[in-house]
Amino acid sequence: MKMNTRDGKSVSPWEKAIPFVEEKETELPKKYHVLIVGAGITGVTTALMLQNQGLDCLLIDTNNVGAGTTGGTSAHLNTFLDATYPEIESDFSKEAANLVAKATKEAISIIKNNINELNIDADFEEKKAYLYAEDEKQQKQLLGILDASKRADVSVHDVGKDAPLPMPFLKALMFDGQAQFHPIKYISGLLKEFLRKGGEVLEHTAFKSSKIENDCHLIQIGDSEIFADHLVFATHVPPGINWFNFSCAPYRSYVVGAKLKDNNYPDSLWYDMQEPYHYWRTHEIDGKQILLVGGEDHKTGQGSPAEALQNLKDYVSKYFEVDQFSFEWSSQYYIPVDGLPYIGKMPMADENTWVATGFNGNGMIWGTVSAKMISDLITGQPNDYEDLLSPSRVKPIAGFKEFVTENANVAWHFVADRFTAEQLKAVDALASNEGVVVDTDSGKIAVSKSANGHIKAISAVCTHAGCIVKFNKLEQSWDCPCHGGRYDVDGKVVTGPPLRNLEKVDWSEVKA
Ligand code: FES
Repeated sequence: MKMNTRDGKSVSPWEKAIPFVEEKETELPKKYHVLIVGAGITGVTTALMLQNQGLDCLLIDTNNVGAGTTGGTSAHLNTFLDATYPEIESDFSKEAANLVAKATKEAISIIKNNINELNIDADFEEKKAYLYAEDEKQQKQLLGILDASKRADVSVHDVGKDAPLPMPFLKALMFDGQAQFHPIKYISGLLKEFLRKGGEVLEHTAFKSSKIENDCHLIQIGDSEIFADHLVFATHVPPGINWFNFSCAPYRSYVVGAKLKDNNYPDSLWYDMQEPYHYWRTHEIDGKQILLVGGEDHKTGQGSPAEALQNLKDYVSKYFEVDQFSFEWSSQYYIPVDGLPYIGKMPMADENTWVATGFNGNGMIWGTVSAKMISDLITGQPNDYEDLLSPSRVKPIAGFKEFVTENANVAWHFVADRFTAEQLKAVDALASNEGVVVDTDSGKIAVSKSANGHIKAISAVCTHAGCIVKFNKLEQSWDCPCHGGRYDVDGKVVTGPPLRNLEKVDWSEVKA
């Protein structure tokens, strides 16, 4: 049995609940109605909804169930989103804002119903949420959000200064009907039901490629082939080079969990309006109250994880008497170019290929909306959000196809004798748990030193489209600044879209 992990070294409090899925002997090749790639909230919910409709589903994940962002979310459930209602009204329409509000409420009620019907102990709690302005500019924005939220039929109240917040603020809005939960306990409950209904799961099984043969997808997964009528990518951006690399920007987000000296934990959800913004809530973990605070997001591979975490801790300590920080972790999300996610038929792909991506910081909500939408679309049922959230609404740029062809074959080979004496010295001087990119005559090498001083060297050229990776000390990963691909220190892909690992360099050979 393989170890259950997340896609990095930092540990979220949810991880303990990652389910062990019994490895079953599945005789492949085999024909399924649907292959779902990615076993986070989107994939698991979609798989259960489709299996419930009588379709035979196979769910795969390159890692284990819940290893991606579902295991690293802060797990807020909101009817107001990172794309605000005034923005949706002006970039889309008032009707669009109404539809989005309706979708958010439906998502919360789907989660609540699943928890009740399947008797899942997922720490689900309904909460009030406060969004607050700390200066005049934010106050103006807040009033715009108040009006547009009301027009979209979201339950919101102007509570002025009557909000239970420790920080100075000018005005707050209170949203009813918000919630929080334990994301992994929740998807574990769904998964159990999916398996009980005859669904199949293969962990540590990567999607490799697909093509159409006899009107059916012939899909290479791991070392096997399967057939499926439908292919669903529930992986954030789909693997490989595709249009979503250009329409979704990858971000890292941070969360810290603090134990407080005075036990004065918030009973509601709080959101500031800073850039980057912060959000607060309390969760009981192992019988103890913990204040969870998230934020300090930055583009993947382009900021400093250490600085982001420190800023977050400093920010929490400004308003609370922190006894100790018991948790710190990060995870990845994708910001769509026009604010709303892309859910539906995948553009420029074979028939019956479906995608759900661009969830911004609202993955639990959009993941659930995606599952309902994709299962409706596959089973030929009408869905209110099909047009609004269609992935085809953004047109690919001219020359995109040529770009794909050119970059799909980026290859890298290292000749191991090109380090200069200075470069070798620099690597020797590297601190434990640090990494550096070294520029050699034959290309850039990503070199890291483990806690016990062991050197690992791999190509620094991302196998997706050739950008240079950057070391992430917190997660002990190499992160790509272009489309968010991530690799562990051995070069293994931990976050798509790259399909191929980074090539290893034999360091013992280099040093000899
Ligand atoms: Fe696209 Fe690295 S993820 S170049």
